[in-house]
Order: sequence, then structure tokens, then C-alpha cells
Amino acid sequence: MADLPFNQADFVRALLSWYQQQGRDLPWRKTRDPYRIWVSEIMLQQTTVATVLGRYDLFLQQFPTLAGLAASSVEQVIDAWAGLGYYSRARNLHAAAGRIQTDYGGLFPADPDALQQFPGIGRSTAGAIVALAYDRPAPILDANVRRVLCRLFALQQPPRSAAAEKQLWTWAELLTPEQEVHDYTQGMMDLGAMICLPTNPQCESCPVNTFCRAYKQGLQQEIPFKIKKKSVPTRYQAVVVMQWQGRLQVRRRPVAGFLGGLWEFPTIDLEQAADAEAAVRGLMLQMGLTGDPVLVGTSYHMYSHFKLESLMYLVDLTDKLRVAETQNQWKTREELELLALHGAHKKVFEKVKAVACIQHQIGDPVSRDTFRHP
Ligand code: ADE
Repeated sequence: MADLPFNQADFVRALLSWYQQQGRDLPWRKTRDPYRIWVSEIMLQQTTVATVLGRYDLFLQQFPTLAGLAASSVEQVIDAWAGLGYYSRARNLHAAAGRIQTDYGGLFPADPDALQQFPGIGRSTAGAIVALAYDRPAPILDANVRRVLCRLFALQQPPRSAAAEKQLWTWAELLTPEQEVHDYTQGMMDLGAMICLPTNPQCESCPVNTFCRAYKQGLQQEIPFKIKKKSVPTRYQAVVVMQWQGRLQVRRRPVAGFLGGLWEFPTIDLEQAADAEAAVRGLMLQMGLTGDPVLVGTSYHMYSHFKLESLMYLVDLTDKLRVAETQNQWKTREELELLALHGAHKKVFEKVKAVACIQHQIGDPVSRDTFRHP
């Protein structure tokens, strides 16, 4: 293994002393329970600290133990994940809980290689669980630490290339101390989140700026090198937002499959945007509904492999006889706020609220109280 260009112990000392004075006071830092730390790390993979702070305790109140989580249904876990986004994490959390329960008697292995076998736990999350719960040396390389290391060593390559990946992990390993691993790991995360920011890094206040090559070379704004976004195809769908007496109709997607177990408004996939209105009328006919679908706008959502363009139709159903029986459910505005709608349809809901609160008063308390479906 190559050497570091500075003394590792000096670096660790500077970081720890800063972390112990300036580190953030976060609830998952007060526990060493691997279950609670695992839940926090999965939440923090793709959700901001501010949002996780509002959801962490609630989730743990609902699922206080690994055994309880494993015994729940995946739908319950998905519904409890509402608002955190990236719901594959909820499905993986449930699947991993079952496996840890059956294969390891409910005990988290203190070994990153063993942890990586569970769904949703990659190398960095495995390292974080071992470092934070067991205080044992295990490197991490999450987005914040990746940026810190790119700058610390003035990495001159695109940070996601295979060669860069290997080099970054080597640096992460070389820097990780044998002791005080919990604080060191949290300190590196805080450094990335509070000082070594993506834009406008606060180098003057950085506790390890004397070690930083990018800072010495004045390259902190250029590093990490930006990756060009690849262009992706567009897919189209028509979304039918049916409104009846203050409630909107939604359905749960099948658990196995894309966006599995999440909620959405009835939707039709389209070849092209121009087909939307005919498709909406066709769906309504099929459901035995008559009414005038009104195009209220288009909503856009990016997935990793395609861009989704959703043409949103609002249909105001006023005649009770015309409301078809279906497996779908009718929800009030308040219920929809708390529902695990997938990201694209969360945006649809926001846009429809903006339009419908003027035209139709979704969630009007009088109609909500008088309506029971079916
Ligand atoms: N991001 C990922 N893990 C984190 C943690 N434990 N504390 C703060 N931010 C994080």
C-alpha cells in the first residue's frame, strides 16, 4: 500500500479535536446499538440530515427492534418510509431484517464483508455500521467523505472512474485510525457536511487545511472534477387524478417490480405525449366513468435511466352513481400528505393541489366528513 503524504496520526488528531468541539449533536450518535445505527445510515444514504431528523424517532417508535421490523409486512415498512424517498431502501431494510434475524439470530455481524451480503448495505454503509456501532477500524466512502478525500489529495481524475474508486478506498483505509473510530468517522462526515462543501468550501475554517493539497494548490473549487451527465430517453404517461367529494383516487403498485409497493394516481403509459387524452378517456370508459378530463399541466421527474413526463388530468366526478367500484382507494388530502406516493406522483400531487385548491377545494372538510367510500 502506498504511503500517505503526511503523518496520519497528526491528521486524525486535528480532525478529532475539531469534531469534539464542533461536531453536530445528532440522535444516532447517542447510541451504539447496531440496529439503530443501521436504520440511520440507510435513511441518510439518500435523504438529508434535516429530513431524517424529523423521521428517525418516529420510525424507531414504530419498529423499536430488529425482530419487530422483520415480523412486519413490507407494506407497513414502505408506508412508514413515506416522505423519505428512494423506497427501495424500505424494501431492502425489511428483507435485510428478515435475514439478520434468521441467519444471525438477530445480531449484526461486526464485519463489513458479512454486512455487505445484506440487501441495501454497500461497502461504505457496512464500514459505517462497524465503525459507529463497534468502534472498530473500517473505512467509509460516502458522498461527503469522497469529496473530502478528492480535495485532500487533489485527485486529478473523474471521481467515479474505476481507478479513482480504488485509489479513494486506499486513502480511506490508510487514514482510518485503530482507535476512536466512531468519532473519527463522524468527524469525516461532519467535515464534508459543514466545511468541505460541494460549492464554496470553507477552507479558512477547516481543521485539516494544512494537510489539503487542493487548498495548497488553490484547486478546491475545481476538485472533484464534475462528471458530465449522460443524456437519457424520455418516457410519457398520462396521470388521471379523479376527484370525488374531496377525495382523490390512488392505487398501490405491485410489491414486486419498479417502485414496488408505492402509491400512485391511476396512470397509463404512453408511446407519445399526443396520445394522452384519448388514453385517459379510454381508461375512464373502462372504469365506467363519464366526465371531462381537464389537462392541468405536465410534471417532470428524473430516474437514473429515463426522464418521465407526466401529463396530469383532473377529473371532477360529481355523480355518485358514476363512481366505479375498484380495488383503488379514495384518500383525503391529509391522508395523501402522509402516503408513500412515489416521487413523480408526489410532484403531481403538489401541482394538482395548487390548481385544485382554487377550482375544486380538495379536502374540503364538509365534503370529507360526509363522504364514505364505498
Ligand atoms: N450521513 C451518513 N451517515 C451519517 C451520520 N452518521 N451522521 C451524519 N451524516 C451522515
